[in-house]
Amino acid sequence: MCQYSAVDGCATDWHLVHWGQLLMSGAGLFTIEATAVTADGRITPACLGIYDDACETALTRTLERARRQSPPIAVAMQLAHAGRKGSSHVPWEGGQLIRIDEGGWTPVAPSAIAHAPHEPPPAALDALGLATIRDAFAESARRARRAGIDALELHMAHGYLLHEFLSPISNCRTDAYGGSFDKRIAFPLEVFDAVRAAWPAAHPLGVRLSCTDWVDGGFTLDDSIEFARRLVARGCDWIDASSGGVSPAQKIPLGPGYQVRFARAIRRESGARTMAVGLINTSEQAQAIVASGDADLVAMARAFLWDPRWVWHAAAALGATVVPPPQYSRSAPRDAAGVFGAAQVGQR
Ligand SMILES: Cc1cc2nc3c(=O)[nH]c(=O)nc-3n(C[C@H](O)[C@H](O)[C@H](O)COP(=O)(O)O)c2cc1C
Repeated sequence: MCQYSAVDGCATDWHLVHWGQLLMSGAGLFTIEATAVTADGRITPACLGIYDDACETALTRTLERARRQSPPIAVAMQLAHAGRKGSSHVPWEGGQLIRIDEGGWTPVAPSAIAHAPHEPPPAALDALGLATIRDAFAESARRARRAGIDALELHMAHGYLLHEFLSPISNCRTDAYGGSFDKRIAFPLEVFDAVRAAWPAAHPLGVRLSCTDWVDGGFTLDDSIEFARRLVARGCDWIDASSGGVSPAQKIPLGPGYQVRFARAIRRESGARTMAVGLINTSEQAQAIVASGDADLVAMARAFLWDPRWVWHAAAALGATVVPPPQYSRSAPRDAAGVFGAAQVGQR
């Protein structure tokens, strides 16, 4: 989850505290927020980046310090480019476009189509711009590996750059990167191939998709299934099934597990491993999604900010165990006495 707490793309003490508490969560995988592959690919000036040596050094040091205090846990990072949603104010300052005369920058996109009608249009990327961004994704993957990241997820959802290529709402190009489905997926696939080549084969690489734009004429679940097939054939390890974000006209029927059906359909139709996400809040709900074969993984966002010990409580409820930091191993209440398994504490 974006924290909007970086300085010039560099992780800060906020990340040390935030990552530190989540690394103790007992989750199977902790994913670091959307991390920009270029400076102008940040959503806000305060977004985390991995686009230069200073970002890489800050990430490496901060993650290393946070990890030293927690039980071993796999860490993924989401690589992202904000596209036409770049140059925004942080959410608690309204989240709107920062115009050039306010110190913003001109965002780039597949086509010069504004996200919202009242906004100035982004700059359409030319061939050099596309190659630069593709190479920046690959270079960021190399930096992430050097920083000790175990798995990567490419952000192709929520109306950011790679989703903007996939969706006919934001991509009106007439060259090899726009028009038909095959042309709209061409640049995202180029980026995927470049990252897969730069990222060790033994380390997982997933993709987050917006499986529907929730607007007529947008990217659809059928498109997502076909795109997932192509990604799996190229070595994609999971599809993280999210939705929306490319159009302010979207109408989203929010409800518990409202996106699980996308994970289920993609898993069944394309053979991809899937990750379900979105309003999955209870341990019973998460357990049922995996047990029923709707998805291989469950991702949770807001529930972990609300309760960073969500996994401990879920483990207690489901009769499972977690590994706590030893400092906290006397914390389990009586009705959850077995939750830390064989962890031993003694005193004299
Ligand atoms: C504060 C915040 C930051 C988020 N940042 C990201 C992000 O960096 N990348 C992303 O793909 N989704 C991001 N999301 C969306 C979440 O990953 C998730 O898809 C969404 O919140 C629905 O899941 P939930 O009901 O478990 O929160 C963010 C959500 C929140 C609330």
